[in-house]
Formats: sequence, structure tokens, C-alpha cells
Amino acid sequence: MKDSHGRVIDYMRISLTDRCNYRCIYCMPADGVTSLCHSDILSLEEIERVVRVAATMGIKRFRLTGGEPLVRKGAVDLVRAIHETPGVDDVSLTTNGVLLPKYAEELASAGLSRVNISLDTLDPEQFRYITRRGELHEAIAGIEAALATGFDPVKVNAVTVRSLGQDFLAFAKMTIDRPLHMRFIEYMPVGESAGSHGCGWGREDVIPSEELFDVINERAKAEGLPTLVAAGDEKPKGWGPARYFMFPGARGTVGFISPLSRHFCSECNRLRMTADGKIRPCLFSDVEYDMRAALRGDGGDDAIRVVLMEALGAKPDDHHDKVGTERGMSQIGG
Ligand code: GTP
Ligand code: 5AD
Ligand code: SF4
Repeated sequence: MKDSHGRVIDYMRISLTDRCNYRCIYCMPADGVTSLCHSDILSLEEIERVVRVAATMGIKRFRLTGGEPLVRKGAVDLVRAIHETPGVDDVSLTTNGVLLPKYAEELASAGLSRVNISLDTLDPEQFRYITRRGELHEAIAGIEAALATGFDPVKVNAVTVRSLGQDFLAFAKMTIDRPLHMRFIEYMPVGESAGSHGCGWGREDVIPSEELFDVINERAKAEGLPTLVAAGDEKPKGWGPARYFMFPGARGTVGFISPLSRHFCSECNRLRMTADGKIRPCLFSDVEYDMRAALRGDGGDDAIRVVLMEALGAKPDDHHDKVGTERGMSQIGG
């Protein structure tokens, strides 16, 4: 499928749930979290139906997101069903990693090819502060489980925030002797029109990727390490917006995702579907198309096609720096 700006759209991010076993300060409020109720969220059968129709229209890559996708019952079965759908050539998952020691093997057998794991700090105290109810060793165990299971690639996502003072070189060094792909993501002030659940971070907390790249290289030099070079053919499999570098000779890579400092909208290849069945043409736009109504109405598969085509037609050429949204990341799926 091509959109009205000539971009090929062949990737869909599907949020399985807005619930999560963590409560990251930039993603969810501390308490009073209002989760969608059972009848609001799409059933696994409804999601499978959307995937089947979307695949006939040329969407061949699917990424499952959340909230935390692995807290949704039946996530493994859904992976299997998507993997077996004609026309699908890649099923991947973005997770906080907590449930990977439990599910990684089953997910791999079901046909999951790749996992991206969120890890924003390597400091145990700061990890508790950010996630409100997590322990660093849980995320590390998730990464180890993903590597041991043989997912290729295993990517780690760290949202970078100036006021946190994260140790970026320590993250980057994890790629030297492990086949890990570390990605630094510019913090995006989204949710409740950028109140971001009261975490207190704003535009001033965005660290532009170019600045971060220089910081990592300066610190690497100070420790007698080589500096980052373009990853070229060593870059990991994926169809997302990251740009990859590596330490010469390292097993993994270091990527940068720069939604604010380098708009990658001209390369955008994706649609999103929220857990309550709304298709979003753009992460940063609150314009949504109602797939749930199409699924539950009597228009058959044609109604599903119409919603996908409408959303496709509404994809903006660029976010033009209007990044605030009403819905938060846990409701959109990132
Ligand atoms: P692969 O390259 O296929 O591994 O996927 P990905 O990097 O797109 O997926 P992931 O879920 O790990 O997302 C990493 C970060 O990129 C998250 O912070 C997402 O919110 C962000 N991201 C992904 N797609 C988009 C997009 O279309 N626009 C913006 N602004 N951010 C995006
Ligand atoms: N800005 C940037 N990245 C974010 N993520 C969640 N919220 C934000 C935000 N405001 C990341 C998560 C996860 C991925 C889906 O998106 O940490 O890795
Ligand atoms: Fe959960 Fe991810 Fe949101 Fe943290 S950022 S609360 S791990 S959905």
C-alpha cells in the first residue's frame, strides 16, 4: 500500500493492552490508572482478522506492543496466528522484558523473530524510581533470556532524558561483547497533551541524538576506547527509524532514534492500532479511525479495508513538531 505521499506502508504496530506490570513515570500516572475494560479491547480473534485483511493489502510486518504486551492472556497464541497468516513475513515484540524468562522459548516456537526490550537506566535505584514497581535485575534477566533463546536481533531501548543523568557509555559498552543492539531514543513529550503524567520532563529534557553521539565518543576516548563508526551492513534487521553505529569489532551496535531532532517521517512505513481498535495514522496525531466498529458491524472484510484505506489516506507528510497527544504511550503502543 502507498500513502498519498508516496510512502510504502507495510508495517503495523498493534497494541495488545494498555495495562502494564510497571508504572513508568513518563508513561502512566502513579495511581488511578484507568484501564480499558474487557469489552472495549479487541479480542484476539478480532486482531487476527485485522491482520489477515491487512496482509492481503500488503502489510507484511507486525510489531506487538502495549502497555506490556506479555500481560495479555493469549499473546503467544496471537504471535503464532499472525506468523501463520499468509503474506506475513515478520512478527516482533516490544516489551519491558519482565515476562521474557517465562515466555521467550514459547514465543520463539510460535514464530516471533525479534524482540525490543525497554531499559532506561542501569542504576538499580533509578530503575525503581522510573518504573515505580520494577527491579533492574528483572529487565536484565529478560535481556539474557532473549539472547539465550536466540532471537536475532535483540534490541534494547533507552529513552534518554537530560535530567536523569543516565550513564550512556555504560549502555553503549554492553554491545561490545554481546550481540545486543542498544538504541537511544529522544524523549517524546506525549500524553495528556504532553503533561506526560506529571513526570516533570519537558522539551528541555530532550537530548538531541547528535549531542549524545558526541558525549558517548568523548567518554569512550577518555576511557581509551575507540569511537563509534557507521554500522553499515552490520546493522540489525528491522524496519524502524533507528540509525546504527558501532564500536569497531563489537558484536552489537549502537542506534539512535531521533523523532525530534531528525524527523524520519519521510521514511515512515507504518500504521498503528490501539488496544481498543483505533487505527492511528501517526503516533503524534490524535486522529483515529474506528476499526472496532468495522469489526463489530455488518460490513464484513470490506469495512476493515475501508478503515485501513481511510487511515492510510490521512497519514501526514511530517509531524511538524506538533508532538503532544491526548493519549499516553501506554494507550497508543509507542
Ligand atoms: P524495528 O526497527 O522494527 O525493530 O522497530 P522500532 O524501533 O520501530 O520499534 P520499537 O517499538 O522498539 O520503537 C522504538 C522507539 O521508536 C519507540 O520510542 C517508539 O515510540 C519510536 N517509534 C517507532 N515508530 C515511530 C514512529 O513512526 N514515529 C515516532 N515518532 N517514533 C516512533
Ligand atoms: N518518548 C520516547 N520513547 C518512549 N517510550 C515510551 N514512552 C516514550 C516517550 N515518551 C518507549 C518505551 C519503549 C518504546 C515502545 O517506546 O520505552 O521502549
Ligand atoms: Fe509499561 Fe512500557 Fe509504559 Fe513502562 S513505558 S509503564 S514498561 S508500557
